[in-house]
Amino acid sequence: MKPVEIAKGIYDVGVNDWNIMDFHGHSTHCGSSYNAFLIVDEKIALIDAVKKEFADELIENISRIVDPAQIDIVISNHTEMDHSGGLARVMHRIGETKPLYCSKMGQKNLSLHYPQHWNYHPVESGETLSLGRHTLSFMETRMLHWPDSMFTYLQDEKILFSSDAFGQHYAGFEKFDDMMTSDIMVHAKKYFANILLPYAPLILKLLDQVAAMKLDIRMICPDHGILWRKDPGKIIDAYARWGRQDTLRKAVVVYDTMWHSTERMANAIAAGLNAEGVDVAPMSLKKNDRSDIMTEVLDARAVVVGSPTLNNGLFPTLGDFLTYMKGLKPKNKIGAAFGSYGWSGESVKLITQELEAMKFEVIDPGVRVQYIPNAAALDACFALGRKIGRAI
Ligand code: FEO
Repeated sequence: MKPVEIAKGIYDVGVNDWNIMDFHGHSTHCGSSYNAFLIVDEKIALIDAVKKEFADELIENISRIVDPAQIDIVISNHTEMDHSGGLARVMHRIGETKPLYCSKMGQKNLSLHYPQHWNYHPVESGETLSLGRHTLSFMETRMLHWPDSMFTYLQDEKILFSSDAFGQHYAGFEKFDDMMTSDIMVHAKKYFANILLPYAPLILKLLDQVAAMKLDIRMICPDHGILWRKDPGKIIDAYARWGRQDTLRKAVVVYDTMWHSTERMANAIAAGLNAEGVDVAPMSLKKNDRSDIMTEVLDARAVVVGSPTLNNGLFPTLGDFLTYMKGLKPKNKIGAAFGSYGWSGESVKLITQELEAMKFEVIDPGVRVQYIPNAAALDACFALGRKIGRAI
Protein backbone atom coordinates (compact mmCIF):
# COMPACT_ATOMS: atom_id res chain seq x y z
CA MET A 1 0.00 0.00 0.00
CA LYS A 2 1.46 3.35 -1.01
CA PRO A 3 1.37 6.13 1.58
CA VAL A 4 -1.81 8.20 1.60
CA GLU A 5 -1.68 11.88 2.52
CA ILE A 6 -4.56 12.19 4.97
CA ALA A 7 -4.00 15.89 5.69
CA LYS A 8 -1.31 18.31 4.58
CA GLY A 9 2.05 16.76 5.51
CA ILE A 10 0.41 13.88 7.38
CA TYR A 11 0.54 10.41 5.88
CA ASP A 12 -0.76 6.95 6.55
CA VAL A 13 2.36 4.87 5.90
CA GLY A 14 0.82 1.61 7.11
CA VAL A 15 0.31 -1.69 5.33
CA ASN A 16 -2.49 -4.01 4.30
CA ASP A 17 -2.40 -7.60 5.55
CA TRP A 18 -4.58 -9.10 2.82
CA ASN A 19 -4.13 -12.72 3.83
CA ILE A 20 -4.62 -12.82 7.58
CA MET A 21 -7.54 -15.12 8.37
CA ASP A 22 -7.28 -15.33 12.14
CA PHE A 23 -6.25 -12.54 14.48
CA HIS A 24 -5.57 -14.32 17.76
CA GLY A 25 -8.82 -16.23 17.54
CA HIS A 26 -10.87 -13.53 15.84
CA SER A 27 -11.67 -14.41 12.22
CA THR A 28 -10.66 -11.74 9.73
CA HIS A 29 -12.51 -12.63 6.53
CA CYS A 30 -11.46 -9.33 4.91
CA GLY A 31 -7.85 -9.29 6.14
CA SER A 32 -6.66 -6.34 8.19
CA SER A 33 -4.41 -3.32 8.02
CA TYR A 34 -1.78 -2.00 10.40
CA ASN A 35 -1.97 1.75 10.03
CA ALA A 36 1.00 3.91 11.00
CA PHE A 37 1.22 7.67 10.62
CA LEU A 38 3.99 10.04 9.63
CA ILE A 39 3.76 13.73 10.49
CA VAL A 40 6.22 15.86 8.56
CA ASP A 41 6.86 19.11 10.41
CA GLU A 42 9.98 20.88 11.73
CA LYS A 43 10.31 17.65 13.64
CA ILE A 44 9.17 14.47 11.93
CA ALA A 45 7.13 12.03 13.99
CA LEU A 46 6.11 8.44 13.35
CA ILE A 47 3.03 7.22 15.23
CA ASP A 48 3.02 3.44 15.70
CA ALA A 49 4.70 0.70 13.70
CA VAL A 50 3.33 -2.49 12.13
CA LYS A 51 3.60 -6.25 12.53
CA LYS A 52 7.14 -7.58 12.39
CA GLU A 53 6.77 -9.22 8.97
CA PHE A 54 5.66 -5.91 7.44
CA ALA A 55 8.48 -3.76 8.87
CA ASP A 56 10.31 -3.52 5.54
CA GLU A 57 7.13 -2.39 3.81
CA LEU A 58 6.63 0.30 6.45
CA ILE A 59 10.21 1.50 5.99
CA GLU A 60 9.72 1.52 2.22
CA ASN A 61 6.53 3.57 2.61
CA ILE A 62 8.29 6.08 4.87
CA SER A 63 11.16 6.28 2.37
CA ARG A 64 8.75 7.48 -0.33
CA ILE A 65 8.26 10.62 1.77
CA VAL A 66 11.42 11.14 3.84
CA ASP A 67 14.61 9.31 4.59
CA PRO A 68 13.66 7.25 7.68
CA ALA A 69 16.82 8.50 9.38
CA GLN A 70 15.24 11.97 9.36
CA ILE A 71 12.49 10.87 11.74
CA ASP A 72 13.02 12.72 15.03
CA ILE A 73 10.37 11.17 17.24
CA VAL A 74 8.57 7.85 17.49
CA ILE A 75 5.27 7.50 19.34
CA SER A 76 3.97 4.11 20.42
CA ASN A 77 0.28 4.29 21.30
CA HIS A 78 0.08 0.56 22.04
CA THR A 79 2.51 -2.28 22.72
CA GLU A 80 0.63 -5.19 21.16
CA MET A 81 2.81 -6.78 18.53
CA ASP A 82 0.66 -5.95 15.54
CA HIS A 83 1.83 -2.37 16.18
CA SER A 84 5.20 -2.86 17.84
CA GLY A 85 6.50 -6.04 16.19
CA GLY A 86 8.23 -3.97 13.50
CA LEU A 87 9.55 -1.43 16.00
CA ALA A 88 12.96 -3.05 16.48
CA ARG A 89 13.66 -2.97 12.77
CA VAL A 90 12.24 0.55 12.40
CA MET A 91 14.21 1.95 15.37
CA HIS A 92 17.35 0.34 14.01
CA ARG A 93 16.76 2.07 10.65
CA ILE A 94 15.88 5.51 12.00
CA GLY A 95 18.29 5.55 14.93
CA GLU A 96 18.20 3.65 18.22
CA THR A 97 18.68 6.82 20.26
CA LYS A 98 15.70 8.70 18.84
CA PRO A 99 13.13 9.57 21.54
CA LEU A 100 10.34 7.03 21.89
CA TYR A 101 7.16 8.47 23.44
CA CYS A 102 4.66 6.13 25.06
CA SER A 103 2.66 5.85 28.28
CA LYS A 104 4.39 4.74 31.49
CA MET A 105 2.83 1.32 31.05
CA GLY A 106 3.96 1.45 27.44
CA GLN A 107 7.56 1.81 28.58
CA LYS A 108 7.15 -1.10 30.98
CA ASN A 109 5.45 -3.31 28.42
CA LEU A 110 7.73 -2.44 25.51
CA SER A 111 10.73 -3.23 27.76
CA LEU A 112 9.18 -6.64 28.47
CA HIS A 113 8.87 -7.29 24.73
CA TYR A 114 12.15 -5.85 23.42
CA PRO A 115 15.54 -5.90 25.17
CA GLN A 116 16.83 -2.71 23.49
CA HIS A 117 17.36 0.17 25.90
CA TRP A 118 15.47 2.72 23.84
CA ASN A 119 15.34 6.39 24.71
CA TYR A 120 11.93 6.20 26.37
CA HIS A 121 9.92 9.34 27.14
CA PRO A 122 6.91 8.22 29.17
CA VAL A 123 3.98 10.65 29.00
CA GLU A 124 0.77 11.14 30.95
CA SER A 125 -2.65 12.37 29.93
CA GLY A 126 -2.59 16.07 29.10
CA GLU A 127 1.10 16.27 28.23
CA THR A 128 1.86 17.95 24.95
CA LEU A 129 4.66 17.80 22.42
CA SER A 130 5.39 20.47 19.81
CA LEU A 131 6.63 19.39 16.41
CA GLY A 132 6.85 22.97 15.13
CA ARG A 133 3.64 23.92 13.38
CA HIS A 134 1.77 21.06 14.98
CA THR A 135 1.25 20.18 18.64
CA LEU A 136 0.41 16.71 19.85
CA SER A 137 -1.32 15.90 23.12
CA PHE A 138 -1.52 12.52 24.77
CA MET A 139 -4.40 10.79 26.50
CA GLU A 140 -3.90 7.53 28.38
CA THR A 141 -6.67 5.02 27.69
CA ARG A 142 -5.68 2.27 30.09
CA MET A 143 -7.25 -1.13 29.39
CA LEU A 144 -8.60 0.02 26.04
CA HIS A 145 -7.56 -2.55 25.53
CA TRP A 146 -4.13 -3.02 27.13
CA PRO A 147 -2.73 -1.25 30.18
CA ASP A 148 -0.36 0.70 27.93
CA SER A 149 -2.94 1.99 25.42
CA MET A 150 -3.10 5.70 24.71
CA PHE A 151 -4.43 8.16 22.15
CA THR A 152 -2.43 10.90 20.46
CA TYR A 153 -4.33 14.01 19.38
CA LEU A 154 -3.09 16.46 16.79
CA GLN A 155 -4.49 19.72 18.11
CA ASP A 156 -4.54 22.09 15.13
CA GLU A 157 -5.72 19.49 12.60
CA LYS A 158 -8.12 17.95 15.16
CA ILE A 159 -7.03 14.43 14.27
CA LEU A 160 -7.29 11.68 16.87
CA PHE A 161 -4.85 8.80 16.45
CA SER A 162 -6.85 6.27 18.40
CA SER A 163 -4.78 3.08 18.34
CA ASP A 164 -7.12 0.06 18.31
CA ALA A 165 -10.25 2.00 19.30
CA PHE A 166 -12.67 2.65 16.42
CA GLY A 167 -10.73 0.16 14.27
CA GLN A 168 -11.91 -2.62 12.02
CA HIS A 169 -10.13 -5.64 10.62
CA TYR A 170 -10.43 -4.70 6.98
CA ALA A 171 -7.83 -4.59 4.20
CA GLY A 172 -8.66 -2.47 1.17
CA PHE A 173 -7.47 0.31 -1.10
CA GLU A 174 -10.20 2.52 0.36
CA LYS A 175 -8.74 4.65 3.12
CA PHE A 176 -11.71 6.63 4.40
CA ASP A 177 -15.26 6.07 5.60
CA ASP A 178 -16.67 8.06 2.67
CA MET A 179 -15.26 5.44 0.28
CA MET A 180 -17.20 2.62 1.96
CA THR A 181 -20.79 1.47 2.23
CA SER A 182 -22.29 1.00 5.68
CA ASP A 183 -20.87 -2.56 5.57
CA ILE A 184 -17.80 -1.16 7.26
CA MET A 185 -19.90 -0.80 10.42
CA VAL A 186 -20.21 -4.60 10.56
CA HIS A 187 -16.42 -4.86 10.73
CA ALA A 188 -16.29 -2.12 13.38
CA LYS A 189 -18.98 -3.92 15.37
CA LYS A 190 -17.15 -7.23 15.11
CA TYR A 191 -13.97 -5.55 16.33
CA PHE A 192 -15.80 -4.07 19.31
CA ALA A 193 -17.65 -7.30 20.16
CA ASN A 194 -14.51 -9.44 20.10
CA ILE A 195 -11.82 -7.12 21.45
CA LEU A 196 -13.29 -4.21 23.37
CA LEU A 197 -16.46 -5.65 24.89
CA PRO A 198 -14.90 -6.65 28.25
CA TYR A 199 -13.94 -2.99 28.71
CA ALA A 200 -17.32 -1.53 27.71
CA PRO A 201 -17.76 0.39 31.00
CA LEU A 202 -14.35 2.03 30.49
CA ILE A 203 -15.35 3.03 26.98
CA LEU A 204 -18.41 4.84 28.31
CA LYS A 205 -16.21 6.66 30.83
CA LEU A 206 -13.76 7.60 28.10
CA LEU A 207 -16.53 8.93 25.87
CA ASP A 208 -17.82 11.02 28.79
CA GLN A 209 -14.29 12.29 29.39
CA VAL A 210 -13.86 13.24 25.73
CA ALA A 211 -17.25 14.98 25.76
CA ALA A 212 -16.32 16.89 28.95
CA MET A 213 -13.05 18.00 27.34
CA LYS A 214 -15.07 19.27 24.36
CA LEU A 215 -12.42 17.70 22.19
CA ASP A 216 -13.10 18.76 18.63
CA ILE A 217 -12.48 15.70 16.44
CA ARG A 218 -12.36 16.20 12.67
CA MET A 219 -10.89 12.83 11.85
CA ILE A 220 -10.33 9.59 13.76
CA CYS A 221 -7.38 7.49 12.64
CA PRO A 222 -7.40 4.01 14.16
CA ASP A 223 -4.56 1.55 13.67
CA HIS A 224 -6.78 -0.90 11.75
CA GLY A 225 -9.03 -0.41 8.76
CA ILE A 226 -10.44 2.80 7.35
CA LEU A 227 -10.14 6.30 8.83
CA TRP A 228 -13.25 8.21 9.90
CA ARG A 229 -13.17 11.63 8.21
CA LYS A 230 -16.66 12.11 6.82
CA ASP A 231 -18.58 11.28 9.94
CA PRO A 232 -16.45 10.52 13.01
CA GLY A 233 -19.59 11.04 15.09
CA LYS A 234 -21.09 7.91 13.55
CA ILE A 235 -18.50 5.58 15.03
CA ILE A 236 -18.48 7.51 18.34
CA ASP A 237 -22.27 7.09 18.59
CA ALA A 238 -21.94 3.39 17.75
CA TYR A 239 -19.32 3.00 20.51
CA ALA A 240 -21.72 4.63 22.98
CA ARG A 241 -24.47 2.20 21.93
CA TRP A 242 -22.22 -0.85 22.03
CA GLY A 243 -20.60 0.35 25.26
CA ARG A 244 -24.03 0.54 26.91
CA GLN A 245 -24.74 -2.88 25.41
CA ASP A 246 -28.11 -1.74 24.15
CA THR A 247 -30.04 -4.72 22.83
CA LEU A 248 -32.51 -5.18 20.00
CA ARG A 249 -35.52 -7.44 19.71
CA LYS A 250 -33.13 -10.13 18.65
CA ALA A 251 -31.95 -13.59 19.71
CA VAL A 252 -29.00 -15.80 18.84
CA VAL A 253 -29.51 -19.55 18.90
CA VAL A 254 -26.01 -21.02 18.96
CA TYR A 255 -25.46 -24.77 18.87
CA ASP A 256 -23.55 -27.71 17.53
CA THR A 257 -24.86 -31.14 16.71
CA MET A 258 -23.69 -34.76 16.32
CA TRP A 259 -26.58 -36.50 14.54
CA HIS A 260 -28.80 -33.49 13.75
CA SER A 261 -31.01 -33.85 16.84
CA THR A 262 -29.76 -30.69 18.57
CA GLU A 263 -29.87 -29.00 15.17
CA ARG A 264 -33.58 -29.80 14.77
CA MET A 265 -34.18 -28.49 18.28
CA ALA A 266 -32.33 -25.25 17.42
CA ASN A 267 -34.44 -24.76 14.32
CA ALA A 268 -37.68 -25.30 16.28
CA ILE A 269 -36.60 -22.83 19.01
CA ALA A 270 -35.68 -20.27 16.35
CA ALA A 271 -39.10 -20.79 14.72
CA GLY A 272 -40.77 -20.13 18.08
CA LEU A 273 -38.77 -16.92 18.51
CA ASN A 274 -39.66 -15.89 14.98
CA ALA A 275 -43.32 -16.50 15.71
CA GLU A 276 -43.01 -13.89 18.47
CA GLY A 277 -41.57 -11.37 15.99
CA VAL A 278 -37.97 -11.70 17.18
CA ASP A 279 -35.08 -11.26 14.75
CA VAL A 280 -33.33 -14.63 15.01
CA ALA A 281 -31.21 -17.09 13.08
CA PRO A 282 -29.93 -20.45 14.28
CA MET A 283 -26.12 -20.29 14.22
CA SER A 284 -24.33 -23.60 13.95
CA LEU A 285 -20.76 -23.72 15.20
CA LYS A 286 -20.00 -25.90 12.20
CA LYS A 287 -20.77 -22.99 9.90
CA ASN A 288 -20.09 -19.89 12.02
CA ASP A 289 -16.96 -19.15 13.96
CA ARG A 290 -17.08 -17.87 17.48
CA SER A 291 -16.17 -14.28 16.62
CA ASP A 292 -18.95 -13.93 14.03
CA ILE A 293 -21.41 -15.29 16.58
CA MET A 294 -20.18 -12.82 19.21
CA THR A 295 -20.82 -9.99 16.75
CA GLU A 296 -24.48 -11.03 16.72
CA VAL A 297 -24.53 -11.59 20.49
CA LEU A 298 -23.45 -7.97 21.07
CA ASP A 299 -26.89 -6.48 20.38
CA ALA A 300 -29.05 -9.58 20.96
CA ARG A 301 -31.26 -9.63 24.07
CA ALA A 302 -31.35 -13.44 24.24
CA VAL A 303 -28.70 -16.08 23.74
CA VAL A 304 -29.98 -19.65 23.55
CA VAL A 305 -27.30 -22.31 23.66
CA GLY A 306 -27.57 -25.95 22.59
CA SER A 307 -25.22 -28.89 22.82
CA PRO A 308 -25.44 -32.65 22.61
CA THR A 309 -24.00 -34.49 25.58
CA LEU A 310 -20.67 -36.08 24.74
CA ASN A 311 -18.83 -38.23 27.30
CA ASN A 312 -20.89 -36.71 30.14
CA GLY A 313 -19.95 -33.20 29.05
CA LEU A 314 -20.45 -30.54 26.41
CA PHE A 315 -19.65 -30.93 22.77
CA PRO A 316 -16.12 -29.44 22.52
CA THR A 317 -17.11 -26.56 20.21
CA LEU A 318 -19.64 -25.42 22.83
CA GLY A 319 -16.97 -25.57 25.52
CA ASP A 320 -14.84 -23.33 23.33
CA PHE A 321 -17.67 -20.91 22.58
CA LEU A 322 -18.85 -20.59 26.18
CA THR A 323 -15.30 -19.97 27.42
CA TYR A 324 -14.84 -17.33 24.74
CA MET A 325 -18.16 -15.60 25.45
CA LYS A 326 -17.54 -15.65 29.22
CA GLY A 327 -14.23 -13.82 28.78
CA LEU A 328 -15.93 -11.10 26.74
CA LYS A 329 -18.39 -10.40 29.60
CA PRO A 330 -21.60 -9.61 27.67
CA LYS A 331 -24.29 -7.91 29.79
CA ASN A 332 -28.08 -7.47 29.66
CA LYS A 333 -28.80 -10.97 28.35
CA ILE A 334 -31.44 -13.55 28.96
CA GLY A 335 -30.65 -17.14 28.11
CA ALA A 336 -31.67 -20.77 28.10
CA ALA A 337 -30.15 -24.13 27.16
CA PHE A 338 -31.19 -27.14 25.14
CA GLY A 339 -29.65 -30.31 23.86
CA SER A 340 -30.06 -33.94 22.90
CA TYR A 341 -28.40 -36.88 24.61
CA GLY A 342 -28.13 -40.65 24.52
CA TRP A 343 -28.07 -41.85 28.14
CA SER A 344 -26.65 -39.37 30.66
CA GLY A 345 -27.65 -35.90 29.33
CA GLU A 346 -25.60 -33.40 31.33
CA SER A 347 -25.21 -30.75 28.63
CA VAL A 348 -28.27 -28.64 29.46
CA LYS A 349 -27.30 -28.45 33.13
CA LEU A 350 -23.71 -27.56 32.25
CA ILE A 351 -24.74 -24.83 29.81
CA THR A 352 -27.20 -23.41 32.32
CA GLN A 353 -24.46 -23.23 34.96
CA GLU A 354 -22.23 -21.39 32.53
CA LEU A 355 -24.97 -18.92 31.59
CA GLU A 356 -25.66 -18.26 35.26
CA ALA A 357 -21.94 -17.74 35.89
CA MET A 358 -22.09 -15.07 33.15
CA LYS A 359 -25.02 -13.46 35.03
CA PHE A 360 -27.47 -14.17 32.22
CA GLU A 361 -31.08 -14.26 33.37
CA VAL A 362 -31.89 -17.92 32.70
CA ILE A 363 -35.60 -17.94 32.06
CA ASP A 364 -36.25 -21.67 31.66
CA PRO A 365 -34.68 -24.93 32.89
CA GLY A 366 -34.21 -25.81 29.21
CA VAL A 367 -35.24 -28.68 26.97
CA ARG A 368 -33.51 -32.09 26.94
CA VAL A 369 -34.35 -34.73 24.36
CA GLN A 370 -33.18 -38.34 24.34
CA TYR A 371 -31.80 -39.41 20.98
CA ILE A 372 -34.13 -37.96 18.35
CA PRO A 373 -36.76 -35.27 18.92
CA ASN A 374 -40.29 -36.42 18.08
CA ALA A 375 -43.16 -34.05 17.29
CA ALA A 376 -43.90 -33.44 20.97
CA ALA A 377 -40.26 -32.62 21.69
CA LEU A 378 -40.11 -30.22 18.75
CA ASP A 379 -43.32 -28.60 20.02
CA ALA A 380 -41.61 -28.14 23.40
CA CYS A 381 -38.67 -26.46 21.63
CA PHE A 382 -41.05 -24.20 19.69
CA ALA A 383 -42.76 -23.33 22.97
CA LEU A 384 -39.40 -22.51 24.54
CA GLY A 385 -38.69 -20.18 21.61
CA ARG A 386 -42.05 -18.47 22.12
CA LYS A 387 -41.43 -18.12 25.86
CA ILE A 388 -38.04 -16.51 25.24
CA GLY A 389 -39.63 -14.30 22.58
CA ARG A 390 -42.22 -13.06 25.07
CA ALA A 391 -39.50 -12.44 27.65
CA ILE A 392 -37.60 -10.36 25.10
FE1 FEO B 1 -4.20 -3.86 17.12
FE2 FEO B 1 -4.29 -4.42 20.48
O1 FEO B 1 -3.59 -4.42 18.78
